[in-house]
Amino acid sequence: MTLLINIPNRNVDKLVHGLSEQLGRETVQVWPDVDEPDKVTMALVWHHEHGSLTRFNHLKAISSFGAGVDGILADTHLPNVPIARIVDDNLSEQMCQYVHGILLHHQLRLSTHFANQVLMTWKPRRQRVLNTMGILGLGELGTAVATYLRSLKYNVIGWSKSAKQIENVESTTGESGLNFTLSQADCVICLLPLTQETHELLNDKAFAAMKPDAILINVARGKHVKDDDLISALNNEQIAHAYLDVFQQEPLPSEHPFWHHEKISMTPHVSAVTDMKTVIEQIVDNYKRVEQECPMRNTIDRDKGY
Ligand code: NDP
Ligand code: OXD
Repeated sequence: MTLLINIPNRNVDKLVHGLSEQLGRETVQVWPDVDEPDKVTMALVWHHEHGSLTRFNHLKAISSFGAGVDGILADTHLPNVPIARIVDDNLSEQMCQYVHGILLHHQLRLSTHFANQVLMTWKPRRQRVLNTMGILGLGELGTAVATYLRSLKYNVIGWSKSAKQIENVESTTGESGLNFTLSQADCVICLLPLTQETHELLNDKAFAAMKPDAILINVARGKHVKDDDLISALNNEQIAHAYLDVFQQEPLPSEHPFWHHEKISMTPHVSAVTDMKTVIEQIVDNYKRVEQECPMRNTIDRDKGY
């Protein structure tokens, strides 16, 4: 049995080293230089080349290198084996801090003040008011962010597929729940997985439901947002500002209009970065489970797509 690392265009030396320390170097193979494809029983993947897993006839399991699995499920030649993902408290903590940082940045008008400094302009202004948070997706990350923002005394409304019971968080579901959440929120935070149902969910209809002063924080996947509709919504003052960490295409192409839009602020997919130590621990644990023919931890439901 061997573990395949199929993570192209990225230096995987640390990963190979960490996994080899625990599993033995002979157990770890790195795509595309695989000597014995028939020995591969588990594949650790991130942005893998679609179709590249078909040659591993004895593959029993796949794991994502991150929390999301949309890149794996988009492979139409994916072997029909269980898929696991990384679930990590550290990822949730980073996401809470990132979202809180963006909220404070917006509330305190820091961009405006720092731009004024460059112009040597003294222009005091009141803080913006953001009371109600609308969180789309109440899974591992959405629940952590909802609980964190509640502890900071924001009102929190969450939207998910099934109803949730999170203390002092209003849970909504379905289309009416989505409209309610969008219409009440001063800030909409997208923490949904990317599936057929959530693809370009943040479109002209969603923006029309939002308040003109509301902001959008997208920290899930770029494909949740319909780019042209977002630009129209910002230009037509249907929403006030978008803070984006993820994009339809990454890196964002240089000709993309988001780069220079005054109502868009961007970070390069850094809101919560997978911790190498956690990945190694979780992959080793799941690899051993596969070896012992036990179910992996943190598996996803392929039919649901997350
Ligand atoms: P989870 O799978 O734990 O949670 C997903 C949530 O979305 C669940 O509450 C689920 O509802 C809800 N949901 C799914 N589909 C729908 C739908 N059609 N309508 C309403 N609600 C829906 O995911 P995580 O919280 O772990 O992660 C969310 C996403 O964040 C990841 O898929 C990934 O794309 C992204 N991410 C981004 C990072 C970054 O650096 N920018 C880092 C890590 C993750 P229910 O609970 O009822 O099933
Ligand atoms: C993830 C990510 O899904 O980094 O883990 O986007």
